[in-house]
Amino acid sequence: MENIIDYINKNKKRYVDELIDFLKIPSISNNPENKPDMLDAAKWVENQLKGVGLENVKIYETDGHPVVYGDWLKAGKDKPTILVYGHYDVQPVDPIELWSNPPFEPVIKDNIIYARGATDDKGQLFIHIKSIEAHIKNTGKLPVNVKVLIEGEEEIGSPNLSKFLKNQSKLLASDYVVISDTSMYAPDLPSICYGLRGLAFMQIDIVGPNRDLHSGSYGGGVNNPINALAHIISKLKDDKGKILIPGFYDDVIPLSDNEREEYEKLPFDEEGFKKNLEIDEIFGEEGYSTKERISGRPTLDCNGIWGGYQGEGAKTVLPSKAGAKVSMRLVPNQQPEIIEKLFIDYVNKISPKSVKVNARALHSGKGSMTAIDTPAVKAAKVALQKGFNVEPVFMREGGSIPIVNSFKEILGADAILLGFGLADENAHSPDEHYDLSNFHRGILSIAYYLTELENLEKYK
Ligand code: BES
Ligand code: ZN
Repeated sequence: MENIIDYINKNKKRYVDELIDFLKIPSISNNPENKPDMLDAAKWVENQLKGVGLENVKIYETDGHPVVYGDWLKAGKDKPTILVYGHYDVQPVDPIELWSNPPFEPVIKDNIIYARGATDDKGQLFIHIKSIEAHIKNTGKLPVNVKVLIEGEEEIGSPNLSKFLKNQSKLLASDYVVISDTSMYAPDLPSICYGLRGLAFMQIDIVGPNRDLHSGSYGGGVNNPINALAHIISKLKDDKGKILIPGFYDDVIPLSDNEREEYEKLPFDEEGFKKNLEIDEIFGEEGYSTKERISGRPTLDCNGIWGGYQGEGAKTVLPSKAGAKVSMRLVPNQQPEIIEKLFIDYVNKISPKSVKVNARALHSGKGSMTAIDTPAVKAAKVALQKGFNVEPVFMREGGSIPIVNSFKEILGADAILLGFGLADENAHSPDEHYDLSNFHRGILSIAYYLTELENLEKYK
């Protein structure tokens, strides 16, 4: 192990240089113009997997962006098999004018690298590739069987990956899926994520009169789609943050007393939280702490809203149309299909008959949980402790990685979520960045993890 750790320390700079190359590729999955870049990114990952000594490396076509796969399976049948998952696609860059540097021209300042995808997820997935390299280059082998699966459609909800998992279930068969695409609870606090939220993403479209009207000639006599929309939205949640859709909470597993005690133990600076966001008051579901609200409880939020005149000055118009995007983060055990139906039925029920309302589901994903006494989780705790010299904490994440549930349902594999990002690294927003000290300590931790997994028996 000593040689491996030495190697990681000695190659620190080259690892970062390679990451810079990766970050230069504008692999934005939702933009058709970036399709060639998606292929470039897939090929870049393919070359990396080959270069570090993985075998059977191949780019697999899908109906969307390609998937990259590689493995090393010579550890023997008696050793566990892990599947490392990550995504090479990134979010769009807009609003581009708010970036301090161009998003695909990485810049390092104070050991922090700035670029789109730095923390989500290129920097984090690269940790695994470099840990694998350190093992293979020093010992000629890996302690366990490793499969690597890097996809290009996570940021658009992984629309083609479940099919790939089903079609390739033999190729991908594994005991655990190991993922670094979440955050550490706090700087210098290595974290094991044991829960991800699910998601139900909805759209409401409202049509009133067949054309925009003069609000003087018609106002007061025709319902206004924006007013109707506001009326509907105001009935989705009460002023204490409780969601009002009947049946919404039916399948929610309540936080146990024990879990709430654990939540309580995690450090949280409420004043700092408010200051950082420049808000005067925190807000959320009554009876729960902020920590619980943002990861252990379900939510409902409008993500976008439109309608009417939005330009300079005034325009006395009664618009024909209005609409909104609404998403609900779900906790494990809530079924997105049921929630979608409850949402649609409720919106239809509270909609005034004076406008036409169409509520529909755009996409969804289930949440997931991993038991913290799972042997591979216990081994992860030891590995993170070695990599950071700090005792790790357990946490739930408010975000979603919908494919994680499919790994369990299709491959029967539990997810071990070892996040090396930080919540305030601007994922999905301008000036996304990544702390390179976590990149380095992540590589050390995963190198230790591969070794700990070799003796999984001792954690059973
Ligand atoms: N890396 C994130 C997941 C995540 C989000 C982890 C927040 C930790 C905190 C992932 O790339 C992501 O953004 N997922 C989307 C999923 C959606 C597009 C279906 C999300 O959570 O919004
Ligand atoms: Zn991600």
